[in-house]
Amino acid sequence: MELSQALYTTRAMRRVTTEPISDEIMAKLLDAAVRAPSGGNTQKWRFLILTDQAKKTALQKIYSEALTDLNATQYKPMMDLIANGDPNDPEVIQVKKTYASGRWLADNLDKVPTLLFAWGKPNGESSIFPALWSLQLAATAEGIGTSLTTLLFKKHTQQVLDLLGAPAVGEWVPMAMITLGYPTGKWGVAKRQQPHEVAFQETWGNPVSWTVDQPLWP
Ligand SMILES: Cc1cc2nc3c(=O)[nH]c(=O)nc-3n(C[C@H](O)[C@H](O)[C@H](O)COP(=O)(O)O)c2cc1C
Repeated sequence: MELSQALYTTRAMRRVTTEPISDEIMAKLLDAAVRAPSGGNTQKWRFLILTDQAKKTALQKIYSEALTDLNATQYKPMMDLIANGDPNDPEVIQVKKTYASGRWLADNLDKVPTLLFAWGKPNGESSIFPALWSLQLAATAEGIGTSLTTLLFKKHTQQVLDLLGAPAVGEWVPMAMITLGYPTGKWGVAKRQQPHEVAFQETWGNPVSWTVDQPLWP
């Protein structure tokens, strides 16, 4: 797959089939992940591949509760927008789609074939994200949909770590869970704010001299 295609179409593909992902492909994805940069090349990361049904079932319950809780608190403004907003407003339509996709994952996490957990080090945690993004891009090239999630590590960290037989937060900090599976939907270019709307030139607040009105790929 062409690099630009992977860059432009890799997005939260939460709805996937139950078709398993082979060990060979998981090895390829992790091999791509560990090529990523890390501060001082310390490579302080650990990954745990989970396919065990009983553990996924237990995680689904935790994840679902966590999402319900989040929707009632931090995401309440979005829930209000869905309930009261103009159903023809593109922003409302987009929020509804994201909500439905997130809810699907919460309701079906146990059916997602592979969950990948990732740890980093305290104070150097951000080094994990280039590796995870590389893994997600490599997954796209293999026709595998991924979504990066952090919800399980907001309020339920210890419960999740116990389930995974992982050490308590200390030397290692759990950073994310990536869901992986063969997507039921199509790959499309992610809709985003345009780059000139979020970039400055030379001085904060000074607009760049160019605009990009449409994604530059394909
Ligand atoms: C740091 C981070 C944390 C995220 N946590 C979650 C999560 O817990 N659950 C989830 O369903 N999606 C999560 N996402 C995915 C975002 O919701 C997704 O990237 C965003 O809605 C854009 O979706 P799109 O790429 O399909 O357009 C997370 C993404 C990032 C970068």
